[in-house]
Amino acid sequence: MENQPIIEVQGLNKEFIVNGKKRGQKKTVHAVNNVSFSMKRGTTLAVVGESGSGKTTLAKMIMRFEPITAGKILFNGNDISQIKGKDALKAFRKQIQMVHQDPTSSLNPSKTIREIIEEPLLVHRYGDSKARLEKVKELIQIVELPIDFLERYPHMLSGGQKQRVGIARAIALDSELIILDEPTSALDVSVQAKIIQLLENLQEKYHLSYLFITHDLALVKNFSNNVIVMQLGNLVEQGSVEEIFHHAKEVYTKKLLKSIPVVEPAEQAYLDSIVI
Ligand SMILES: Nc1ncnc2c1ncn2[C@@H]1O[C@H](COP(=O)(O)OP(=O)(O)OP(=O)(O)O)[C@@H](O)[C@H]1O
Ligand SMILES: [Mg+2]
Repeated sequence: MENQPIIEVQGLNKEFIVNGKKRGQKKTVHAVNNVSFSMKRGTTLAVVGESGSGKTTLAKMIMRFEPITAGKILFNGNDISQIKGKDALKAFRKQIQMVHQDPTSSLNPSKTIREIIEEPLLVHRYGDSKARLEKVKELIQIVELPIDFLERYPHMLSGGQKQRVGIARAIALDSELIILDEPTSALDVSVQAKIIQLLENLQEKYHLSYLFITHDLALVKNFSNNVIVMQLGNLVEQGSVEEIFHHAKEVYTKKLLKSIPVVEPAEQAYLDSIVI
């Protein structure tokens, strides 16, 4: 089990049919095009690429929120692309959670933090109300927020604090895989670092696997084990952080690397030597 990939994606495709320029005309968008990769349990796989390259669509297919046009997704060795029926899908989705980019729009403004963290527990029928409250208290402490925040509303929290609530909710069901879709891009740099630190601690403690979608290659270097590079729906390069950062083969990857704002001097010398 330990050596079995948590996720294995084989020849995955997603086509959207959209309206063309002319009235009545239809156009096919290949959002994800024949993508294959595998992800080792307990590690972080970064998915990088420009806007529109298919990163979120890929994540949504893995969670079965978006129909798959073609290809296979194995989760713990089981083909989950074929799961049908409400109950079966619900049971599957319990194992994968997502942390969204914008903590403000992903938290219901009319609910207290306690209700927000309790929601997945309720949906998946975790214990009685007393057991759920205990679990919610445990979760808020795990994400290092004061317990009296439970009676607050999202607008009373900072961006970083809201993202901690999003993380508490994502780990509530002991899911093995957490998809982080630009989890820190809406936050200040100093807050970003603290959220990443928290995610690293949680990964170590609970042996979590992270699919980390990001534009920010500077973050990838310290936070990820492996990287896949997407361009216009295609997976153009994949490798370890070391391979991608020091021996990138593709021009597109090199361009992305070049766009990192601040890097260490040794790296800068390497980047300067890249001619694109
Ligand atoms: N529901 C949809 N209907 C039609 N086209 C879509 C839909 N969702 C995504 N697309 C298209 O699929 C492509 C990939 O989009 P996606 O959101 O996966 O990109 P992304 O890499 O996550 O971008 P970003 O970094 O901006 O979040 C884009 O061309 C997008 O316009
Ligand atoms: Mg996206």
